[in-house]
Amino acid sequence: MTENYWLFLIYLVSVCLFILSIQGLSSPKTAQRGNWLGMAGMLLAVDGTLLALPGENHLWIFITLLLGGIVGIFTGLKVKMTALPQMVAAFNGVGGLASVFIGLAEVWRGPAQTIEVSIGIVIGGVAFAGSMVAYAKLQGLLKPNFGRFTYQNWFNGALSLVLLYFWYLFLLKPDNLSAYFLLGITFIWSVALTLPIGGADMPVIVSVLNACSGWAASGIGFSLGNMALIVTGAIVGASGTILAFVMTKAINRTLFEVLFKRLNDQSGTSTADKHFVRSGSPADAAFILENAAKVIIVPGYGMAVAQAQHILHTMASVLSQKYNVDVKFAIHPVAGRMPGHMNVLLAEANVSYDDVYELESINREFSTADCAYVIGANDITNPLARTDSQSPLYGMPVLDVGKAKTVFFVKRSLNAGYSGVDNPLFYADNTVMLYGDAKKVTEEIVQVLEQN
Ligand code: TAP
Repeated sequence: MTENYWLFLIYLVSVCLFILSIQGLSSPKTAQRGNWLGMAGMLLAVDGTLLALPGENHLWIFITLLLGGIVGIFTGLKVKMTALPQMVAAFNGVGGLASVFIGLAEVWRGPAQTIEVSIGIVIGGVAFAGSMVAYAKLQGLLKPNFGRFTYQNWFNGALSLVLLYFWYLFLLKPDNLSAYFLLGITFIWSVALTLPIGGADMPVIVSVLNACSGWAASGIGFSLGNMALIVTGAIVGASGTILAFVMTKAINRTLFEVLFKRLNDQSGTSTADKHFVRSGSPADAAFILENAAKVIIVPGYGMAVAQAQHILHTMASVLSQKYNVDVKFAIHPVAGRMPGHMNVLLAEANVSYDDVYELESINREFSTADCAYVIGANDITNPLARTDSQSPLYGMPVLDVGKAKTVFFVKRSLNAGYSGVDNPLFYADNTVMLYGDAKKVTEEIVQVLEQN
């Protein structure tokens, strides 16, 4: 009884730490603190669980903890910033798989709380199999369009009925065989549902799957009577669900459309006149930038690839301090390849939070800006998102960079971005292409700015 009391108290403290952690993560200023609080909460929850276990299991648990810890630390240190979304997908899948194993262990142990266990197996299985597909797509192992066919939604609908049937059979007779069948059909269903999804919808699906692994853990928590699992699972489930809705809003699609209405990833539906493209040198750009009163910088995926955030901050500082230019950073909610991608990079480069603006608060200002400096960004500025109902970007709010007097696009070519759609702004009269690697071009501009 006393032991349970202490365990309950430890779990309660760790749950409070998780909640404070989420609160901290809601702002870049407090994100680091939030991260530490989350880690402390997890450490406490794991320690509490270990202390409450019978002694003979400790060796096995330490071995698995050590192995998992080594893989986690090694992957965390090695992963490139641009590959974080696939890492999140992979780790998320492993979380789902853990729920599946706990569920199966409960079935093997004999009479179990069937409903909770089945929820753990099904939702955990969906999270695992779907996350593996998301990983393969984000890593480029599968093409965005891979796995699409006609009448797919009908096929998936039929599979859903088969899944429900096997679930029903498991609830009637929760033995090993029915659990394996349920798991098998869950994997097939999840792969079938995730496979046709691609393009800008992928981050939403990763978030949905993340929520699934949370709900699965919560379900398993009920069957084990483990308060920490129930609450943390619910936190992960709820935050993943909210994030999925926030992202669908950012790309102006509904969750239903993401799941059942495919984006045409490779359409290239530009109506732009491609005959003339104006390009310039870093020296030309430096001249225009230093004579501007207001410059808005728009970072995108290419800035992350080139790791140009530090030199970009230097450029902004030189412009504002030496040339008295009003410099602002504009962030699109889906710029880069993961939520908050640009915020993280700019914070890493010590760009002041006060200079960073979200889409809604900065969009009006482009018409009063002398220059928009678009660095490694493409889709998030594409005006076809407003005008071309056939475009996969249609409906996504975009940054109105075209309204600035001069638009610089820093990129290596006229190639399309993530969505595969051509950007008519490249051919606009007020656009100047600055071809090259984002970091190198910006370094050259800074050199000229510092010499002048
Ligand atoms: P994109 O539209 O993908 O454009 C990035 C551009 O960067 C490319 O056109 C590429 O052109 C350029 N680039 C790549 N490496 C570069 C380098 N080293 N130096 C300079 N330029 C470089 O990126 P975006 O504008 O940030 O838009 C994000 C897209 O990703 C959206 O479609 C969004 O829906 C999708 N997405 C977002 C997320 C989240 S949650 N953020 C997750 C998955 C997908 P060149 O090849 O010509 O250089």
